Amino acid sequence: MIFILNGPNLNLLGQRQPEIYGYETLDDVARACATHGAALGLEVDFRQSNHEGALVEMIHDARASAQGIIINAAAYTHTSVAILDALQAFDGPVIEVHISNIHRREAFRQHSYISARADAVIAGCGTQGYLLALDHLAVQLA
Ligand code: DQA
Repeated sequence: MIFILNGPNLNLLGQRQPEIYGYETLDDVARACATHGAALGLEVDFRQSNHEGALVEMIHDARASAQGIIINAAAYTHTSVAILDALQAFDGPVIEVHISNIHRREAFRQHSYISARADAVIAGCGTQGYLLALDHLAVQLA
């Protein structure tokens, strides 16, 4: 089982700043991940929350249920020591994904707390980044 965790405002994907994040909805991304994961032999549990503590608890759930985590922590990427600490308590591979290239954007987006734990970071590939992360996990977990 792979947990794919999404942070705040990603529920508005497709409607929110489409010039940056595109027109696909989060449901579209969830469906694409389920299909791609199945082709790779990986079951996917795709979740989103706007709440930091809820994301921390999802990562705690992953300790018992997931072999790997793909996480787009959205704005919490740049603020959340709590999410970093939760990820530090997870033993499997962690892939950080951003739809946009955070390094080409505002200075405050260029620091990620998640990167201190992530085994790999994918940014700027659009929603394809989630599928690339699944490809990488399939190799890592083989
Ligand atoms: C994001 C980038 C973050 O800086 C931003 O707060 C998001 C989305 C991305 O996927 O590009 O909400 O994580």
